[in-house]
Amino acid sequence: MSDDGADKLPFDPRRTMDEPWVNLATGQDLKDWTHADEVSYNQGNRQIEKHLFFVRCFDFIKDNRIVGDYHEFGCHRVRTFRMALTEARRHGMDDMKFFAFDSFEGLPDHSADHNVEIWKQGALSTSVERFRELTNAHGIYTDRIETIKGFYSDSLTGALQRKFLDEENKIALVNVDCDLYESAVPVFRFIEPLLQEGAVIYIDDLFAGYKGSPEKGVAKAFREFRARSRFRFQRHLDIGWWGRSYIAYIGEEGSAEGL
Ligand SMILES: C[S@@+](CC[C@H](N)C(=O)[O-])C[C@H]1O[C@@H](n2cnc3c(N)ncnc32)[C@H](O)[C@@H]1O
Repeated sequence: MSDDGADKLPFDPRRTMDEPWVNLATGQDLKDWTHADEVSYNQGNRQIEKHLFFVRCFDFIKDNRIVGDYHEFGCHRVRTFRMALTEARRHGMDDMKFFAFDSFEGLPDHSADHNVEIWKQGALSTSVERFRELTNAHGIYTDRIETIKGFYSDSLTGALQRKFLDEENKIALVNVDCDLYESAVPVFRFIEPLLQEGAVIYIDDLFAGYKGSPEKGVAKAFREFRARSRFRFQRHLDIGWWGRSYIAYIGEEGSAEGL
């Protein structure tokens, strides 16, 4: 293990100039490798992929002049929320608003048909106060962050949806990161009228928790939403093995075939 942790990066900047071309850990390097090392190795690699997505996506949004807000459904430790804030600042998006939708009490009660042991009721909980502490410490666009506390089945009301519509708060990028079918269903229902052409939907957990089955979890909720939406969704970027983004557009059924 190196002191600087660079050997945990998927793209090692210290790659070699000969075989095996990349600086692979050897048996000697991994002789004391533990499960805790594996967890932090995975976390580090996954966060790098997510960060790359935000870098690319904000470039896409700016380049295509998609004006709107950032919505995040599932905020927990503020990791992706901060990525959005930083990239928005880098692109001078001084009119963007940032909406954090979460129970701030962790996961709801749900049918445990997934295979992720830590997805239990109350898991992944971060309080509103802690969320604010982290965004304040981050220090970007703090005055334009709004938290909407509550379980989505209660908090995503028709009245709240109308308020967004009345204030013409359209979505530029929405991050659906709430793990469960039960959670994603009200989210997709809520965002539908707030989408616009070019809006990006980033769906985390598209292939997580259910052995990649499209018949379960967030993938199932997205498929159901997609079938009834007035928008079509063009596949855009892959985020690791677990997530994907789509671009909303108005068009004919099947017009994106082959792309
Ligand atoms: C995987 S974490 C989100 C991680 C976060 N994006 C980050 O980068 O730190 C999932 C979050 O979804 C929230 N959540 C899941 N289902 C919910 C529901 N039905 N209502 C409200 N919040 C929910 C949990 O409270 C938790 O904060």
